[in-house]
Amino acid sequence: MPLLELSNIRKDFGGLRAVDDVSLQIPEGAIIGLIGPNGSGKSTLINLIAGSEALTAGRIIFAGDDISDFTPDAVYNSGIARGYQEPSLYFKMTVLDNVLLPVKEQRGEQPWHAPRWSSWQGEEAAQAERAMEVLEQVQLVGHYDTLAADLSGGQMKLLEIARALMGKPRLLLLDEPTAGVAPKLAYEIFQQIARLREDYGITFLIVEHRLEILFDFVDTVYVMHLGNLLAQGAPADIAEDATLREVYFGD
Ligand SMILES: Nc1ncnc2c1ncn2[C@@H]1O[C@H](COP(=O)(O)OP(=O)(O)OP(=O)(O)O)[C@@H](O)[C@H]1O
Ligand SMILES: [Mg+2]
Repeated sequence: MPLLELSNIRKDFGGLRAVDDVSLQIPEGAIIGLIGPNGSGKSTLINLIAGSEALTAGRIIFAGDDISDFTPDAVYNSGIARGYQEPSLYFKMTVLDNVLLPVKEQRGEQPWHAPRWSSWQGEEAAQAERAMEVLEQVQLVGHYDTLAADLSGGQMKLLEIARALMGKPRLLLLDEPTAGVAPKLAYEIFQQIARLREDYGITFLIVEHRLEILFDFVDTVYVMHLGNLLAQGAPADIAEDATLREVYFGD
């Protein structure tokens, strides 16, 4: 059974079909690349899986469950976390606080429980411990007290990934995880992704324009064009694919 299965998913924005009957299957533990020219529907596909856009048609099955109508919260709770194309960090807060902030339903934040600190202090300590654990996983633990604004571009991307790891996702959706990052650091981000798969069995679906790096790390590449899946295959085959070259480079 695949971990994620998309069956004929479609998204219309008014008259524009941004995702056009896309079907694909992602096995657990895979690192999958999703590429295609600007506006081909990659981010929309990610948004559909994450539940932040509603499907026009089709079905999304995750770990055997139909999550087609799930809210973003429900998708997250089912084991799918995501990063965004535009980084969304709290720059005036520390690295540790950035990881802790999205944790929902902390008892200490509820008026009913707040004065009864003994009912939540264990929970808070556990969250902080978990946060240090995910910072360790992306090798940012030494920077836990640094302000997010003082991180390098690559470290900011890793912090986003750390935050996504808080909920122990089985599937991580990343939209251009190396955008705006220097080449050497971009390579290091992908090395971290490979380690996360190796150490924790996390499955990745990664949108990326930097093919020269992406192709070194992914098992399978999907190519989108005008909302359609144009091709799929091993990176070496996709790199040689004449259709892809035409779509991307116009030759
Ligand atoms: N909320 C929206 N409302 C209307 N049209 C949208 C919306 N989001 C995306 N689109 C359109 O859908 C198409 C696909 O956009 P999408 O952002 O998915 O492309 P992309 O492949 O991620 O591009 P890029 O590589 O530039 O990030 C584009 O034509 C875009 O203008
Ligand atoms: Mg995009």
